[in-house]
Amino acid sequence: MNSQPVADRFAFRTADALRRKAEELGAELPFDQDIGVLFEETVVGGRRVPNRIAAQPMEGCDSTPEGAPADLTVRRYERFGAGGAGLIWFEATSVLGDGRANPRQLFITPATAPAFRHLVGVTRIAARQRFGPAHEPYLVLQLTHSGRFSRTAPPGERRAACHNPYLDRETLPAWTDGELDGLVSRFVDAARLAARAGFDAVDIKACHGYLLHELLGAHTRTNSRYGGPFEHRIRLLMDIVSAVRAEVPDLAIAVRLNATDGVPFPYGFGVPADGGAGLDLDEPKGLARRLRDAGCALLNVTAGIPTYGPHINRPFDRPVAGTAPPPEHPLIGVSRLLALGAAIQAEVPSVPVVATGLSWLRQFWPPVAAALLKAGGAQLAGLGRGMFAYPDAPADLMARGALDPVKCCIACSRCTELMRMGSTAGCAVRDHPLYSALHRRATNAAGSPP
Ligand SMILES: Cc1cc2nc3c(=O)[nH]c(=O)nc-3n(C[C@H](O)[C@H](O)[C@H](O)COP(=O)(O)O)c2cc1C
Repeated sequence: MNSQPVADRFAFRTADALRRKAEELGAELPFDQDIGVLFEETVVGGRRVPNRIAAQPMEGCDSTPEGAPADLTVRRYERFGAGGAGLIWFEATSVLGDGRANPRQLFITPATAPAFRHLVGVTRIAARQRFGPAHEPYLVLQLTHSGRFSRTAPPGERRAACHNPYLDRETLPAWTDGELDGLVSRFVDAARLAARAGFDAVDIKACHGYLLHELLGAHTRTNSRYGGPFEHRIRLLMDIVSAVRAEVPDLAIAVRLNATDGVPFPYGFGVPADGGAGLDLDEPKGLARRLRDAGCALLNVTAGIPTYGPHINRPFDRPVAGTAPPPEHPLIGVSRLLALGAAIQAEVPSVPVVATGLSWLRQFWPPVAAALLKAGGAQLAGLGRGMFAYPDAPADLMARGALDPVKCCIACSRCTELMRMGSTAGCAVRDHPLYSALHRRATNAAGSPP
């Protein structure tokens, strides 16, 4: 269905060939063939994590209309549990009906909470049945409000922190400070339900352009306690973290944090104040220190906004149909993501960081992750698309010391296309025939690329 050009198809048969390409591009990419570190235990929020491999949050867009996990959701986490990941970061889950990124995004409420409890149980049982009682994966639920990307807000009621000409086709009304104040209790309510459902931690999501990340770059929001100076822009995130800590003390707090978004100043976060391209990590590092001091137990460092410069967020070979090919070699993007995580980990060594951006490396991610972890560049290696494609990757690595190349993600963007076409998301290549059939059906229904 897609005839877009491909930047540079992945054709590396050996780790050495990949390493040479990285050198040629000037992209830092560490390698260590001794991958034992991936199977070492670690500790998050005082709780043992059985290994260093994490399943990143990956939305399947397959909840019931009310937001409860449905059959495909349960199937996904059962596979992640049985796959052996030591930490499973459950996907974006809305705290408000109007704040869902799509009508099938998970939404935790008193009515849907029992289904979340079931989901946690199924995941833990699947892990235990395959690896025994000593293998208890650490479970994090990502809580979010989709902000300007909410698709369930009634017409005219979608709000933004402030106008952003890089992201908005129309000027959206701005949230009032009072409305933002009111969100703190919604996150607390959701966190309480998550604790009762059996999660070990909640992630107060501050990435990818959604509300709490949007506010981090709200330089042009004036006359507000939530815009302008750094202290104001981080206020809602910090207030939510403190409130959840106080009200749900048994639950650990995690934050998935954008270290940069690539949106030029004064509309972005982690970018230079002269409006130029590139990075400025002073504020992201300052925020990481503040989160550490507020008791945050775990960070997951990411970058970019999926609809704006998607190559920053998820390095790919084949773009979403109808969109531009990546403007840089995907290895540059992988290297950038890993370096961002390492910079934050160096700033807050006492808070474990999950590294993002490994999936494009296919079967070669384990030696890269091992080198990164040994150098202290992160404490856990996170796989997003790689887990959709190959949930058994940790188990295979444990059993054979290597991955099967024909099960790996090929960074083809079909999972993102499924999402964009309003279908349920999964791997249309490796999770065949289920998601290849859904992809075909969605493409036919759309009649044109997403
Ligand atoms: C289909 C799809 C769904 C995603 N859902 C989420 C999500 O719910 N929460 C989140 O923080 N990131 C989400 N992401 C981003 C991934 O977690 C991850 O950061 C990204 O894919 C890059 O990592 P990778 O190279 O290992 O795939 C999603 C990505 C894709 C492609």
